[in-house]
Amino acid sequence: MKNNQTCLPIVSFFLATCTLFLFPPSFASGQDRIVINADLGQQQISRHIYGHFSEHLGRCIYDGYWVGEDSDIPNTRGIRNDIVEALRATNIPNLRWPGGCFADEYHWMDGIGPRSERPTMINTHWGGVTEDNSFGTHEFLDLCGQLNTEPIIVGNVGSGTVKELSQWVEYVNFDGVSPMADLRRKHGRDEPWGVVYWGIGNENWGCGGHMTPEHYSDLYRNYATYARNYGNTRLRKIAGGANASDYNWTEVLMQRIPHWMMWGLSLHHYTTDWGDKGPATGFSEFKYFDYIRRCYHIEQVIRRHMTIMDRYDPAGRVALVVDEWGTWYDVEPGTNPGFLYQQNSLRDAFVAGITLNYFNEMSHRVRMANIAQTVNVLQALILTEGEKMLLTPTYHVFEMYKGHHDATLLPLHLESGQYEYDGNQVPALSASASKKDDVILLSIVNVDPEKDSDLLIDFRGQDVSRVSGRILTGDVLDAHNTFDQPDVVKPAEFISARIRNNELRTIIPAKSVVVLEVE
Ligand code: AHR
Repeated sequence: MKNNQTCLPIVSFFLATCTLFLFPPSFASGQDRIVINADLGQQQISRHIYGHFSEHLGRCIYDGYWVGEDSDIPNTRGIRNDIVEALRATNIPNLRWPGGCFADEYHWMDGIGPRSERPTMINTHWGGVTEDNSFGTHEFLDLCGQLNTEPIIVGNVGSGTVKELSQWVEYVNFDGVSPMADLRRKHGRDEPWGVVYWGIGNENWGCGGHMTPEHYSDLYRNYATYARNYGNTRLRKIAGGANASDYNWTEVLMQRIPHWMMWGLSLHHYTTDWGDKGPATGFSEFKYFDYIRRCYHIEQVIRRHMTIMDRYDPAGRVALVVDEWGTWYDVEPGTNPGFLYQQNSLRDAFVAGITLNYFNEMSHRVRMANIAQTVNVLQALILTEGEKMLLTPTYHVFEMYKGHHDATLLPLHLESGQYEYDGNQVPALSASASKKDDVILLSIVNVDPEKDSDLLIDFRGQDVSRVSGRILTGDVLDAHNTFDQPDVVKPAEFISARIRNNELRTIIPAKSVVVLEVE
């Protein structure tokens, strides 16, 4: 008996060692696993999924991008140079403007001509402040030119007229002799800009007119008809879509609007708890878990809208355009509640990373999306204070993910553990892979606050031998950058990945976003 007891462990150790030697384990239990089929990609991820939204709201435009030509802050024709430079570094693909709710009370003719003569208006949605219209069509399209990005203009259906929208398109896009093209020339711009993307109203179920979907569908057909193509500019019109889980809105619009009339149908989905938003930093783990869970919920919402769209449009002609998404918290203490100014932490980086991974996966239908809102509002990429500017964790995710733009989506199978809190669970890992010029880009988010992921990645269909990477992480879940300490959260080189026999092994640290380039 005694002998046996001594002998058994020795035999087991011997057998285990032999087994390990002869058959090295490719997947140990407790290990997370990703399988990537590198030769089976078909779908292109549109770069427009990585788009942005900037509204006349709070300090996004005024005291954000726009400081005016006489400002001490370095600018080009009134637009801040540091913001332009930072956004260009993300390869910003598009910018949606002027709203949001603001779009349906904006009258574009008030925003052209000499600035000193432009009429003012009240921004009734956002703080009731007086808008002096100094940033209008010319300034916005100059900004897009400086950013080298595609403009998306949202027209006014709620309080505007068919004629007004029709004339705006003519003003912006017509090359010949016409009242609107001549007016444009009078205001200093000879060439038309050739703007392709036009939103036909915004949230017309709410701030854009409190309409029924039936009424909006009829109006859409009317407004869209007179938004004309001029020259070679073929418009891509986007119908104002549903609020989150309002599936009936999508159903009615898909039924009533001829599909050739709409390039895209929009959807707005904010990651928030409307009853108790909570602060952007200094939150509990309960709130952290809750927001990550709400972020994952977008998958269900998008799938259900897509199922409806598939029924009416099995060929997938109409794009799903998620033209407002992101986190929405309580405003920073002491700021105007109507200005929606919030800090941005590691938690926001995870929401951005998970959401963008998911948009990639759904890119056969999701062909455009716009995070709300680029500067100083909601889940911003950039915050400013006077001449100071900082890049948020969300900015860094957009910059780290830019290799996904227009790349081929690779089919990916993920098996990961769960992050558990108070008896509830969410997947600890989110991941997406794409390929461009034989380089595979893999973006991974580990939302677990404590547990590292021991990850094995199996590449099939392509020989791989080299890997490099970057990581975004912090000491605490609400790690964030401030004007005094702007580099608390920023990407660092990631060196703990190794490739052997076409398998990559690595540890994805708790609470981190990792982007790997493999070739
Ligand atoms: O992004 C802020 C607001 O949220 C937008 O103006 C509106 O479209 C949405 O309700």
